[in-house]
Amino acid sequence: MGKIITLDEGTVKKIAAGEVVENPASVVKELVENSIDAGASRITVEIKKGGISFIKVTDNGSGIEEDDIAKVFKRHSTSKIRNAEDIYFISSLGFRGEALASIAAVSRVELITRAAGTPYGLRVYSENGIIKDMEKTGSPQGTTVIVRDLFYNTPARFKFLKKDSVESGYVSDIVTRIALSNPSISLSLSSDGKIIIQTPGTGDLSYAIASIYGMDTGKSIIKINYKDELVHITGYAGRAEISRPSRKYQSIFVNGRYVRSKVITSAIDEAYNTYLVKNKYAFIVLNIKINPVAVDVNVHPAKLEVKFSDEQRIYRAVYHAVKNALSGESRIIEIKTDEALFFKESNRDIIEKEPGLLTGGPGQIYNAGEPCEEGTRDMRAWKDSRHDNLVYYRPDSRQEGRHVELDASRSDDGQGRQEDYRQDYFLVDDASGDFSGSRIIGQAFSTYILLEKDDYLLLVDQHAAHERIVFEEMKKQFSENKSMAQELIVPITINMTYQEIKILDENKAFFNRLGYIYEEFGNNSIIVRAVPYGGCCENEEDMFLELLDIASSNRKENISILAEKAIYQIACKAAVKANMNLDNKEIAEMLKKLSALENLYTCPHGRPAVVKITRGELEKMFKRKL
Ligand SMILES: Nc1ncnc2c1ncn2[C@@H]1O[C@H](COP(=O)(O)OP(=O)(O)OP(=O)(O)O)[C@@H](O)[C@H]1O
Ligand SMILES: [Mg+2]
Repeated sequence: MGKIITLDEGTVKKIAAGEVVENPASVVKELVENSIDAGASRITVEIKKGGISFIKVTDNGSGIEEDDIAKVFKRHSTSKIRNAEDIYFISSLGFRGEALASIAAVSRVELITRAAGTPYGLRVYSENGIIKDMEKTGSPQGTTVIVRDLFYNTPARFKFLKKDSVESGYVSDIVTRIALSNPSISLSLSSDGKIIIQTPGTGDLSYAIASIYGMDTGKSIIKINYKDELVHITGYAGRAEISRPSRKYQSIFVNGRYVRSKVITSAIDEAYNTYLVKNKYAFIVLNIKINPVAVDVNVHPAKLEVKFSDEQRIYRAVYHAVKNALSGESRIIEIKTDEALFFKESNRDIIEKEPGLLTGGPGQIYNAGEPCEEGTRDMRAWKDSRHDNLVYYRPDSRQEGRHVELDASRSDDGQGRQEDYRQDYFLVDDASGDFSGSRIIGQAFSTYILLEKDDYLLLVDQHAAHERIVFEEMKKQFSENKSMAQELIVPITINMTYQEIKILDENKAFFNRLGYIYEEFGNNSIIVRAVPYGGCCENEEDMFLELLDIASSNRKENISILAEKAIYQIACKAAVKANMNLDNKEIAEMLKKLSALENLYTCPHGRPAVVKITRGELEKMFKRKL
């Protein structure tokens, strides 16, 4: 007696509708999930041409009984739930009875299966969702599904498929996630005959992680094990050194299902709060086991989103699970030394509490948040530049954070001393426009450059200004097709996933034009020999991966739009940051470059770079003038 029934109308309506088959990756996902539901311990996936021409999934699961064969390609036919109520107690991955019907409707499917206890296997061919042929065959127990010529009968959807390499990247991403959530299943993926993923199926998640992401990652993870009355959370949290610039390396599973959940990712971020710098995301694999009643998987048609009945409790549980793991680990480097963290909240308070202090006109205080993460620039480029035509004097007494007490004798004693004092400062004498002939007073908070000229003061946000300079210089070089490549003294090796390597292949021309020179190094890694803009960033690997992220999310854009986005990113990282001491020579050089630009008053993100306060305004402020 077969187990498959056809669900009644009411039940069908309650099940969220949606497109099941979007691309080869979604076909692979559905087929592998069926294999898992069938209790398989070994699943192999083979694809050709990104899965567009050929997908084969073989398992050693329960197989399909002969009586059920006729129903497998019918919509809403499932062995996994019996009625609407069951939806709330699902422990299987499938439940809609829709996947095979949808796949069969848009491809040529061949199914070979032998159920446990059955002496022979069956081979079935379907086209347009209709079984064309069925024959007995010899076969090991389990099921093999072969999907050929995806979307052959729906040209409009075929057109939306991306290049083979991109599609195979999606497939490897899906298989990765499934492998991570099922460490006791031995999973393999091969693409055009080449094995890409192969997990041992020992049940130990750390082995699965190491086999997918490489030994370096396997060695940099900390075990998570947390249990309370509601949830059991297990998995691995990556140490700070393997954090990445995007969330791609975060895999979250709820009751074995890969999900996206803001509640969970924000709890992870919070737990990592003191361990990672801004815009860095933890590597993490999290398995959350929860009573199915407390979670609704039926929110999203692709079953990617979940809803928890008590989000606060899930948040707290995830936070503690991750935090406990991290705090028990002494090798994590706490980011204590980053100057940016010493920025006192009280400074902000002054501005917020007294908003009327400098309002209106050109002297307005802009309290815009940082639009980009300020990188730490290697100051070599500035220090090496020549300043022969500039006269400067670097005051010996200049100290970090020096607080100058105004002593009465200075103003009384007058001229002589004041003259000396003035000589300590550099005149920006070869800059043009607003800056020409201005006097450098110095830096405030190691963040703003202060200048005096005629009857006004200029405040320059050093990061915003420098960002604009780098942005314009790079844009110019890019449009003139000049090489921005600067060879690294010590080349760097970057480990990537198979998917990232594929994306890189697609965007090789783009990376080369930006100035990256690299070659494949085997095992999904590359060796980078040159980078743009003279090794602009503290962490070249991060920068590279960030750009890869930009390239991967913008596949349809042309190279110059992509380049603009990339240059934004590089400029932000390459620019000197706030809280960095600059000497007058460096300030002068920067202002000279800035004043040569057309667009010098804002950073590339539109934040002001220069603010002017007139003498009149100061006088009003001090009530000298009304
Ligand atoms: N690899 C397999 N091994 C054993 N049985 C399978 C396999 N693949 C499919 N089946 C059977 O075929 C039925 C239909 O599969 P299908 O994927 O279409 O629906 P489902 O898994 O029940 O729900 P969903 O649409 O949510 O995936 C399943 O309920 C199961 O009984
Ligand atoms: Mg299914």
